[in-house]
Amino acid sequence: MSEPNYSHLIDLNDYPVEWWNKVINLGATIYHHPQRYVQACAGKIMATLFYEPSTRTQMSFQSAMIRLGGSIIGFDNPMSSSVSKGENLKDTTKVVSSYSDILIIRHPLAGSAKAAAMTADCCVVNAGDGGHLHPTQTLTDLLTLKMEKGRLEHLTVGLCGDLLYGRTVHSLCKALSCYAGNKFVLISTPELRAPEYIRKLLRDSGCEYREETSLDAAIGELDVLYMTRIQRERFASQADYLAQKDIYCLTPEKMAHAKPDLAVLHPLPRVDEIAVPVDEDPRALYFKQAQYGMYVRMALILKLLESENHLPVLHGEANAERQCVNPKCILAQEHYLPPRFVQEGGHTLCEYCEERALKK
Ligand code: ASP
Ligand code: CP
Repeated sequence: MSEPNYSHLIDLNDYPVEWWNKVINLGATIYHHPQRYVQACAGKIMATLFYEPSTRTQMSFQSAMIRLGGSIIGFDNPMSSSVSKGENLKDTTKVVSSYSDILIIRHPLAGSAKAAAMTADCCVVNAGDGGHLHPTQTLTDLLTLKMEKGRLEHLTVGLCGDLLYGRTVHSLCKALSCYAGNKFVLISTPELRAPEYIRKLLRDSGCEYREETSLDAAIGELDVLYMTRIQRERFASQADYLAQKDIYCLTPEKMAHAKPDLAVLHPLPRVDEIAVPVDEDPRALYFKQAQYGMYVRMALILKLLESENHLPVLHGEANAERQCVNPKCILAQEHYLPPRFVQEGGHTLCEYCEERALKK
């Protein structure tokens, strides 16, 4: 498969921190001076291929492109497209990318955005690939922290809820561990603790972190509390989901024990992990956060369209002795994809989903 020659955003960590900072700073500038950018993407077309439900990511990307003077096409229900007739990801991507300048994809399988980037004839952006990553949510979170806390370093960050399947948590940990002095408190039940590759990444980056089951025990020490929804759609059974649901709920009573300048973030949608009265607390920033998402996506669209910094999509190696056995990896569905593997701390990982690959 030939390597197309475009800038993609599959994983923020494919880019240096300086690049993230440029996107965030541009997002802040656009926030303050949106009128300067109203024609910045005139004549450009953005396609949104959403194989999974979305409110914020899809609509903030769409309004971002419209506010930049560009146009939008796409689907938010694959069953209303020719995916319902059995079209594979490769063909859909190939065709839609020939109609557009930038393609935003959300898909239930890990590694799907990388797979799409391999065939696309335009930039591809990962808008969430299964339980794996959600890099544009992380840009949103970083812009929110920059604007509201004034810094991305020396923060004690609590992440609470579904740390296992929450892709926003994985992307945010990967990003914040690259800034100096950040500490993490991972608050979850033992069943929903962060995946080993995220804990290892925190260890390897030298960040202080600890795991905690009690939100009450941690809340008083936090600068940032990142609440998350239990990801019902990723559980093996309804019973497994029901056993985890409703364990954590941020209430005004809990907020009374938090720092006066705590920032409460949530990628949204909220189900019942934040009680509605907390919305009135000035420390509740999640609706502002969703709005910052539009400005940072405007910045991202501009950066990717102007970029001449073309990165290779695949960098792993073929390995005839290994296989990815993750049923939620894109390799399990799109059989034409070449399996590729990377070495990480003595383990062989699937390049698409980052899960451990087994011997055949
Ligand atoms: N909207 C975020 C995501 O798509 C978080 C969530 O759905 O809970 O990952
Ligand atoms: N935060 C987020 O990704 O929201 P949606 O799932 O509504 O896009």
